Amino acid sequence: MSKRSGPLAPGVAFIIGGARGLGNAVAVSFAKEGARGVVLVDIQDEQTFAEGQKNVEEYGTECLRIRADVTKEADVEQAVQQAVEKFGRIDYAANFAGILGPRDPISEISLPEWQKTQDVNSTGMLVATKYEMRQMMKQASIDGIEEGRVPQQGSIVNCASVNSLFSVAGTVAYTASKHACHGITKAAALEGRTHNIRVNAVSPGFLPTKLVEMGEDEEANEAWKTLWRGLTNRQGRNATLEEVGDVVVLLSLPRMSLVNAQNLFIDGGFTINAGNF
Ligand SMILES: NC(=O)c1ccc[n+]([C@@H]2O[C@H](COP(=O)([O-])OP(=O)(O)OC[C@H]3O[C@@H](n4cnc5c(N)ncnc54)[C@H](O)[C@@H]3O)[C@@H](O)[C@H]2O)c1
Repeated sequence: MSKRSGPLAPGVAFIIGGARGLGNAVAVSFAKEGARGVVLVDIQDEQTFAEGQKNVEEYGTECLRIRADVTKEADVEQAVQQAVEKFGRIDYAANFAGILGPRDPISEISLPEWQKTQDVNSTGMLVATKYEMRQMMKQASIDGIEEGRVPQQGSIVNCASVNSLFSVAGTVAYTASKHACHGITKAAALEGRTHNIRVNAVSPGFLPTKLVEMGEDEEANEAWKTLWRGLTNRQGRNATLEEVGDVVVLLSLPRMSLVNAQNLFIDGGFTINAGNF
């Protein structure tokens, strides 16, 4: 028997929502662990995309940028195709595109805003999963599976949120979309397992990204700061984006062969903590 040598995650990573924030942290974690290629898929502006790419390339990893909107099925199909043209396959997909959506009570909710949130956060994730699975179903297992372990044709990690379990008043669109993430993940996992594809979700707690910035409104900002303090207290401490990125890499490894359809909370104990809130 020999000791493991070489990188932890030698395959090709395909990250939707990968230009910035948590998706970019996932991309960087894959780069750190030796991914052969990293694909960043997003709708971001040129500068943000370039910064996201630089973060990945700092680890000597080849990085492909693809502009694609998850609300457009043809974009997602094309993105998968371009990634495969460049790197030959997709071993680890991570679906991290997301928006916060309206912060209104249900009595005031605007249906187009509700719909936009579902289009990005849940239907977008479904479409991403569809084309990622199609690719993974036709490729061979990643090399280097240890003796006695099952092959892995691919792993998909979908980004949900603690809002896939709980809710806060005024977040109906986001909460519903994140509950749907886990539903999509469960069904995909049961279909994927006959093809050696695992599909799991992760549910981060509270991370300081652009998604949770409140803009210029001072009153809204003060209220948000107070809420954020309560949320991070309940989480136990401030968290770093890297802590989410690293979990996604670990969850994507063939070593996690029996872990399928799960929703892994990356929240320092937030969801089981009934205090400090
Ligand atoms: N920040 C948090 O506290 C937190 C907690 C739990 C879950 N999340 C989830 O993490 C994921 C990443 O969010 P983030 O916090 O890093 O915020 P972010 O805004 O920095 O990242 C979201 C990314 O998704 C991209 N995106 C949005 N709409 C898209 C579309 N139609 N097509 C393609 N890409 C699109 C954005 O351009 C952006 O790069 C989201 O799914 C979010 O719901 C965030």
